[in-house]
Amino acid sequence: MAQMHLLSFLIHGPMNHTILSWADPDDERVAGLSSIRYWQDLARLLERGCFDGVFFADLPGVADRYRERVDEAIRYGMCWPTHDPAPLVAIMAAATEHLGIAITLSQSAHHPYSAVRTLSTLDCLTAGRVGWNIVTGHLRGEHRAYGLDQLDHDERYARAEEYMEVCYALWNSIEPGAIKTDRQAGLLADPAKVRRVRHAGRYFRTDTVGPVLPSPQHHPVLFQAGSSGRGQEFALRHAEVIFSIQPHAEGMRRLMQQLRETARMLGKAEPVRVTFGVQPILGGTEAEALRHQRELAERIPIEASLCRLSSTLGIDFSQFDLDQPLDQMDTQASRGMMAAMSGVMAGRRVTLREAATHFGASAGILQIPGTPEQVANRLIALWRDTGCLGFNVTPTVNNSSIADFVDQVVPLLQRRGALRTEYRGKTLRENLSD
Ligand SMILES: Cc1cc2nc3c(=O)[nH]c(=O)nc-3n(C[C@H](O)[C@H](O)[C@H](O)COP(=O)(O)O)c2cc1C
Repeated sequence: MAQMHLLSFLIHGPMNHTILSWADPDDERVAGLSSIRYWQDLARLLERGCFDGVFFADLPGVADRYRERVDEAIRYGMCWPTHDPAPLVAIMAAATEHLGIAITLSQSAHHPYSAVRTLSTLDCLTAGRVGWNIVTGHLRGEHRAYGLDQLDHDERYARAEEYMEVCYALWNSIEPGAIKTDRQAGLLADPAKVRRVRHAGRYFRTDTVGPVLPSPQHHPVLFQAGSSGRGQEFALRHAEVIFSIQPHAEGMRRLMQQLRETARMLGKAEPVRVTFGVQPILGGTEAEALRHQRELAERIPIEASLCRLSSTLGIDFSQFDLDQPLDQMDTQASRGMMAAMSGVMAGRRVTLREAATHFGASAGILQIPGTPEQVANRLIALWRDTGCLGFNVTPTVNNSSIADFVDQVVPLLQRRGALRTEYRGKTLRENLSD
């Protein structure tokens, strides 16, 4: 029977997707930034909950669009500081046996050679438990940090295609059987079986060979999250799992339908595999969960939410009337998130205040407040109704809300036959296909 797949949706910073969550008395995130033990405890907890893995989002720059300054990002710890998720792969893998660890690694901040080298090194060390969320780099602050000119939206995807061409060439450079490790003959590898990669394209040049031993998965599991038209085509060409944020079930259904149509157009036969972001908010009763949801939202100043929305949508919203509808505007940043956050909800147009508030509370991710029973039922209903692969589950308070989910919701999903009770695969790819 098909299983629901769960990834814990995390960020290596002071907050996850709820602004000021670090200020909660129970939250351990800030201390966790200087603690290997924190991440290892979390990894063991997720493995106990039979999660396929963790999925680290990453924005390697500061939000600098709102009022054209960085003050709000720094003051509220709004996606700042931005710690590198790559070292966490080794740290979390060392404490577990099955848990996959997918990291976001931006194509703007890394040359394809260094991306392949880092990811494949980690795939070797973890015996095949690595995933890569391919992002082109929509954040202006990232480009400013690296001293780069940010390319326009569609050109970033053209560059991304060439980027992947170089990555595949590097991953295929070492042919099967090339590694001999023949001590007697002093032969580590057969040079005839290691192909030279000579690439001189529009955006990249390299002249080298594959830098790392063929890793257990050959290449990391590829994830991608761009959801504009151009983004969907790129995702369907390259990603094994597409990740999406939709603020409501209707958006999830619509995206699945769009992706299936685009897949047909591209002649792609395999089923489209999508995980949607969700944020469970648990309570002993529904009223308690709703109260908790309200309290989390009330803590967030509107300027912190606007800072986040401005950065993701690439528009300085400080000049806009908060109570006017948020119309879809052209943006060179995330068109996918613009489409998800604007438009119509419950039969009327969403205002900027509503979109910003929702974005501050959960980055647009669907919140599911309720008792463990209600949350489990809703997840199963969404999974069946949309035909998605599963969910990227983002916590509110770390790590207590993750522990509550594992202890209270996971057993219900397992009892209903929707979630594995043990791992069958060895690699992340095998577990996601199980
Ligand atoms: C659900 C979702 C998650 C994303 N996660 C990240 C991320 O962690 N880091 C990042 O730099 N960009 C992230 N992005 C940005 C996308 O990878 C992409 O660059 C951006 O959305 C622009 O493409 P689009 O207009 O096709 O959506 C995310 C986008 C979406 C929709």
